[in-house]
Amino acid sequence: MSEESNSSEENKLTRLNKFISNAGVTARRKADELIFTGRVTVNMQTVTEPGTKVNPDKDVVKVDGEKVRPLTEFIYVVLFKPRGYVTTTHDEKGRPTVMDLIGLNTRLYPIGRLDYDTDGVLLLTNDGEFSNMMMHPRHKVFKTYFAKLDKPIEEADMRKLREGIMIDGKPTSRAKVRIIPNTADQNIWISIHEGRNRQVRRMLEELGYMVQRLKRVEYARIGLDSLKPGEWRYMTEEELRDARKLATPKMPVFRKPEEAGEGGKKDKKGGKKKKKKDKKKKIKITDTAVEPSTGSDVLESISKELEDISEKISDTKE
Ligand code: URA
Repeated sequence: MSEESNSSEENKLTRLNKFISNAGVTARRKADELIFTGRVTVNMQTVTEPGTKVNPDKDVVKVDGEKVRPLTEFIYVVLFKPRGYVTTTHDEKGRPTVMDLIGLNTRLYPIGRLDYDTDGVLLLTNDGEFSNMMMHPRHKVFKTYFAKLDKPIEEADMRKLREGIMIDGKPTSRAKVRIIPNTADQNIWISIHEGRNRQVRRMLEELGYMVQRLKRVEYARIGLDSLKPGEWRYMTEEELRDARKLATPKMPVFRKPEEAGEGGKKDKKGGKKKKKKDKKKKIKITDTAVEPSTGSDVLESISKELEDISEKISDTKE
């Protein structure tokens, strides 16, 4: 019954009799009978052909007027959030919300937030456990952003971002950051795994930069693919599996105090003891942003912004 034609939509389509029996209403043959005898409606229309294809996420199937709910209703969506939309289910100021872009019957919730002025990958689901896996800082699931700054970034500031920036009296976790190759030095990839309010903008503001453009290009390495602003797709099985793998709790890394730069062992004279294998033990903060796995596509999609570095996008507050 669905008119959507993209392939992920087609994968979702299922025969009406199968849908009814899978939902636990009755056995397949009995479902056929229900359909033949006109007791089944799809989107308010009586359907008498058991092989009619329905989309469990979009089509409303009723038997004797009772809505049939699939047993497994978890849905995972990737939305290209455009700028000018809020990431809430309802906005008091009446601004458009990301929910306006997704016409599914199921109630979905965004996994984390994107500012009104930030666009890019927004994941949505009704699976609370998955959402938690993606968002909890313990799982260290990275999100990668393209940021265009008002001026070229200094090497020393990139180091600071990698070490952590103090915001709201608490240091941020180490970001991965890198100037986008072959572009101006004010275009960077930055990856973080926390989700504090306006975190990327505020980290950069702390260092004296204005973020003129911010686009999330990946979340758990899930990118936009060919989506255009405002469009969405279902997450693929592979993306879902890989995202779960990424979120598997990491082994804690224990560091000796001297390596962590706190205190450090003292020699008998009270001076700092010299480490023998300095090179091995030294913690190097050389993390650079993992380039988005869809790097070249992303570069293509943001090429206009990369070329037009004089573009000024007002940083309207939500
Ligand atoms: N950091 C920000 O500053 N804004 C976002 O929308 C996401 C991350």
